[in-house]
Amino acid sequence: MYDFDKIIDRRNTDSIKWDIKENELPMWVADMDFPTAQEITEAFYERLKHPVFGYSKLRDEWFDAYINWWKRYHGLEMNREHLMFCAGVVPAVSSIIRHLTKPDDKIVLLTPNYNHFYNCIRDNGRRVLEAEMHYNGTGYCIDYDILERALSDLTASLMIVCNPQNPTGTIWEKQDLQRIGELCVRYDVTIVSDEIHCDIITPDKEYVPFASVSALNRNNSITCIAPTKAFNLAGLQTSALYVPNENIRKHVRAAIEKDEISMPNSFAAAAAISAFTKGRAWLEELNAYVYHNKQIVRCFLQKELPEIRLVWGDATYLLWLDCTALKTESKELAAKIRKNTGLYVMAGSYYGKGGTYFLRMNIACPQTQLLDGLERLKKAVSDL
Ligand SMILES: Cc1ncc(COP(=O)(O)O)c(C=O)c1O
Repeated sequence: MYDFDKIIDRRNTDSIKWDIKENELPMWVADMDFPTAQEITEAFYERLKHPVFGYSKLRDEWFDAYINWWKRYHGLEMNREHLMFCAGVVPAVSSIIRHLTKPDDKIVLLTPNYNHFYNCIRDNGRRVLEAEMHYNGTGYCIDYDILERALSDLTASLMIVCNPQNPTGTIWEKQDLQRIGELCVRYDVTIVSDEIHCDIITPDKEYVPFASVSALNRNNSITCIAPTKAFNLAGLQTSALYVPNENIRKHVRAAIEKDEISMPNSFAAAAAISAFTKGRAWLEELNAYVYHNKQIVRCFLQKELPEIRLVWGDATYLLWLDCTALKTESKELAAKIRKNTGLYVMAGSYYGKGGTYFLRMNIACPQTQLLDGLERLKKAVSDL
């Protein structure tokens, strides 16, 4: 029903991703080259019919949209009083770090992990405590000795979990989330669970919300959710924070109010409401398309480029490519690929410990574009 094959020219649209040279192909930053669901665009047009844009408040429908979606598709019952609006997940994470931890505190990350967490931590004068995950050549698991050592550090006060994980695409099992939750309570470390990628998932797979696992998890966590990744509304600055614990909620609310990121713009609420009430059919087709793209990459690499191994992940449209066999550090590798073929992918070292010999590639694009990217990658490797 929806057309994901159509190439849409995004040049000269002020897109960060597409602000590149004529011959270049961007498969780096995490936004998709698909138009958002038409149901969402229609909601924007509806809002545009009124020509006055003032300060906005949240309608009941905004709360209902999140609550019903998470209940129906993710099995999490959220209480309306525990939800608050925030102008984006990264601003929320940054604000939480600034106001809920102290200067020089350590913040624990399972690595490799989303690069902006590093910026948020360091830019706020806190320290990153990396708990590197175990990579077994095909996938990732948590090294609980390393994690426990990190959490037991007396200056560790916060852990940010990316659930599901960017850049590896890992969907965390319930047992992992439970164990992380127990360790964090034992060492008095608060959890931020960034669940922005939770709706981009292999058909028939499910993600487990951190807060759904146990009362312990619910009581010690701040969950960040949004329609922006799944519905390609990145940059629209609309998200929600789910904070069941009254004391933590009080501090989070104060934090985002102090940082002036607690108020929606005219389109922020409409985006979430239309996505979570009318976007399901589009999302299911998107997920089938992304899954197919992943399989195309897997087959291509196996047949044409065995030096690069796809680390299969069932979430996100971001592929984590193991380039260890190429024996070239990822920043140098990504720069060479870009220079020689115009393909722009992310170097794995931006994602911290464990990323040195990996690349991250965004495959949320029409298949012809994906095949162009893969041919460029093949050429780049043969020219090394
Ligand atoms: C894990 C994760 N969190 C947050 C964001 C960005 O969130 P926002 O645009 O709401 O700040 C991204 C974008 O790639 C992401 O991958």
